[in-house]
Amino acid sequence: MVGLLDSLEVKGLTLKNRIVMPPMQTRLATPEGAVTGSLINHYIQRSNELGFLIVEHSYVSFSGMLNKRQVSICDDNLIFGLKKLSSSIHAKATPVVIQLNHAGSHADEKIIGIQPVAPSLSHGCRALQIDEIESLIESFSMATQRAMKAGFDGVEIHGAHGFLLNQFYSPLTNRRRDQYGGSLENRMRFPLEVIERVKKQIGRRLLLYRLGADDLDPSGIKIEDSQKFAVKLEDAGVDMLDVSGGICGS
Ligand SMILES: Cc1cc2nc3c(=O)[nH]c(=O)nc-3n(C[C@H](O)[C@H](O)[C@H](O)COP(=O)(O)O)c2cc1C
Repeated sequence: MVGLLDSLEVKGLTLKNRIVMPPMQTRLATPEGAVTGSLINHYIQRSNELGFLIVEHSYVSFSGMLNKRQVSICDDNLIFGLKKLSSSIHAKATPVVIQLNHAGSHADEKIIGIQPVAPSLSHGCRALQIDEIESLIESFSMATQRAMKAGFDGVEIHGAHGFLLNQFYSPLTNRRRDQYGGSLENRMRFPLEVIERVKKQIGRRLLLYRLGADDLDPSGIKIEDSQKFAVKLEDAGVDMLDVSGGICGS
């Protein structure tokens, strides 16, 4: 039987064991979202015995920033610091990817200075227009390009915990009447379009998806929906699924 301490080969990368540090936000970045010495220390102190590390959620565009001192990956001038972070973790022989996120309606207008965006109108947020959806897909693609330049072994797309991709997937937060809302197929469209574009940037490196698999609400996402979504994600080229909860608060 395979055990926790057995190695695992994924796409030519060897994980020395199956102990994975999940993404956990530290808020140790600078106010501009740049990597700091404290952030690097936080990760190297935890890297020694890990098989795999997923660096906390970084925002792909300014409108998707969740809170102050969150790591940013939305500008090329941040690549230098991100490279220092990935190489410090690699020096411990630990493969590492970085999580990419857009907070959607969870962004705070007082912090981002503009009205937060969401799939549909809700509590102080406005609904995204089609051309804005296209530009957010491009933001995920550009962020992936930066992660590759910064030497990460891949990226994890954040599709859980009630953030933007999860907001599109869940009927609790997506009430659109166009091709991005309504049926399960339509609600999966935006996350799958993000994956398709990110896949083009990732080459032979790893693509993970954090799947908010169950809203634990009778009107929300159910595990049966996520079984279908998981197959679509795999077909689209996702190498690993990181299964978690969906919309928070239930
Ligand atoms: C302080 C803190 C920060 C977190 N930040 C993130 C994050 O950046 N991205 C993410 O997907 N999950 C985040 N999580 C959720 C964790 O990755 C994890 O799923 C959660 O702690 C539950 O653990 P479990 O999956 O082992 O049950 C965070 C959790 C904590 C406690």
